[in-house]
Amino acid sequence: MCGIVAYLGKKAAQPILIEGLKRLEYRGYDSAGVALLGAGPIKIKKTRGRIAALEEILDPSNTVETLGLGHTRWATHGEPNTINAHPHLDYTGKFAIVHNGIIENYATLKTWLQNEGAEFVSETDTEVIAALIGYFYGQSDQDKQYPLQAGQHKFEWAVQRALEKVYGTFGVAIVCSDCPGMLIGAKKGSPLILGVGDNEYILASDAAAIVEHTTQAIYLADNEMVIITPEGFHTKTIQNVAVNKELKEIEFSLEQIELGGFEHHMLKEIFEQPKALATCMGGRIDLQNKRIKLGGIATYLRDLTRTKRMILTACGTAFHAGLVGEFLFEHLARIPAETEYASEFRYRNPIVEDGTVVIAISQSGETLDTFAAVEEAKERGARVFGIVNVVGSTIARATDAGIYLHAGPEIGVASTKAFTGQVAVLTMLAIELGRRRHISSGEIERHIDELSQIPDKIETILAQSDHIKEIAASNIDRDNWLFLGRGFNYPVALEGALKLKEISYIHAEGLPAAEMKHGPIALIHDGMPAVFIATAGPQYDKIMGNISEVRARGGRIIVVATEGDENIASVLGRDDHLITIPDAPEHLQPMLTVIPLQLLAYHAAVLRGQDVDKPRNLAKSVTVE
Ligand code: G6P
Repeated sequence: MCGIVAYLGKKAAQPILIEGLKRLEYRGYDSAGVALLGAGPIKIKKTRGRIAALEEILDPSNTVETLGLGHTRWATHGEPNTINAHPHLDYTGKFAIVHNGIIENYATLKTWLQNEGAEFVSETDTEVIAALIGYFYGQSDQDKQYPLQAGQHKFEWAVQRALEKVYGTFGVAIVCSDCPGMLIGAKKGSPLILGVGDNEYILASDAAAIVEHTTQAIYLADNEMVIITPEGFHTKTIQNVAVNKELKEIEFSLEQIELGGFEHHMLKEIFEQPKALATCMGGRIDLQNKRIKLGGIATYLRDLTRTKRMILTACGTAFHAGLVGEFLFEHLARIPAETEYASEFRYRNPIVEDGTVVIAISQSGETLDTFAAVEEAKERGARVFGIVNVVGSTIARATDAGIYLHAGPEIGVASTKAFTGQVAVLTMLAIELGRRRHISSGEIERHIDELSQIPDKIETILAQSDHIKEIAASNIDRDNWLFLGRGFNYPVALEGALKLKEISYIHAEGLPAAEMKHGPIALIHDGMPAVFIATAGPQYDKIMGNISEVRARGGRIIVVATEGDENIASVLGRDDHLITIPDAPEHLQPMLTVIPLQLLAYHAAVLRGQDVDKPRNLAKSVTVE
């Protein structure tokens, strides 16, 4: 949510900022801007719209400045227009800032600053931080409570004073026209990474904007700031205590975040799933010894084995993975489990008793609702584990321990490979806890063998992409769809509906198939698409009944069934459609049945001419409540 990039080095800043913003555009894309600082005042160019719109108002031949800030926005305070776009200047015109996050007390601070003579032009909370810096900069020689330290620059001091006044979350990058060789970054609750190159520095909210230049980085922690000059950088807390940060290797490559011949990131990520799952499970599934090794939580496994109740908490697609996890823990580990929307968990006064374990699931590791749920669970005494994709992210650091997906960067706003990765991790954990609690070694061997076959089975489903595109094409004029599944495949039905809504803007509802008769069946009318997951399993006969009920009312059936199901043709009419998946035990099916639904949503969105990787109103990670 909002992308920040800043550059200080020897090269022209503008093209590096634009390139970086394009890599961050998936974080927000309603307006964009840059600030460039050379000799003289700060130059700001910003506009409503995407990075392409920003490029149109920039002089492409500008190579003058070697210091600058860039921002791509997902609006929170103030509508997405040019005035509210970042960077923001303070009322003295000396400071420019880009910000990711939300300042909760901005209204009070704004009134106070206005009484002190500050003027504001935008409706944003960010402009208040800029104004605070401008205000304190003017006070730096007089402040008795916090005197300037020897060698400390006024700019740095003013940033500290300003950030101490704000409540909320921020990742910020700031420049000052009095110091054309200085860049300051600071963070609390929003990510900020400093890429350290050869005589150059790239400060960004996401490693995607850095990897092109360097793979060496430092990850700022909350309440830390970095002061960068051409001579080097130093890190300290906002309270002015020096901190030493270790340089870390960014764990993904440029290739992983490029399209690599695919038309969209979402399609690339759908097709990456066999490889992503193989990486996620490789090294963890020990086929020889028939064991599952989960290094990240190894020291907690004894505790986990005695879990009395598991609460899985997440948002969006990760919540659907959590629902699958609930079934997995009950089925394989015999642990009572429940899944809660993170936003609800936090505010419902949750009961956390002895033996309650909370698992937070998040692709980005930055979703604020999920992070807040983690903090709430910790405060109530629960052990909290994370299932996260982005290494070193806020949730990964806030949890007691965790298991990374290792699915590689996910750029498409609609989550795909993270879902299957999350389900794979939950499956491995459930099998391992099951092994420790009650499952016999013979059974474990079978579970592990079956799980390790999943990546190859996904390949065979991906091969049906063209067939699925035809199904999408023949229903593309339909504005209301139902997705229905039972048992382990009920969360997949929810996920299928979410995918279609997110990127094609077609209204869709996901339901446990049996619930249809308690209301939603009233919606069925001629030709309304109803996507059924009717794979082999204990509820197969029941779902056949549900299919007949929809057919009898004129609905059009799109069914995901198991290869070799000879019965399925008998319930399908001429206009209905069949997609098959390889046979797998019911508890492993979600990683397979979700694939055709991802492809269906993808093709429907492309056929409707929608911007698949940047759906309207959405952002890849939502760092506001
Ligand atoms: C946003 C995204 C969804 C995602 C959800 C949770 O709403 O648009 O695709 O599922 O956040 O994100 P997380 O990074 O926590 O998995």
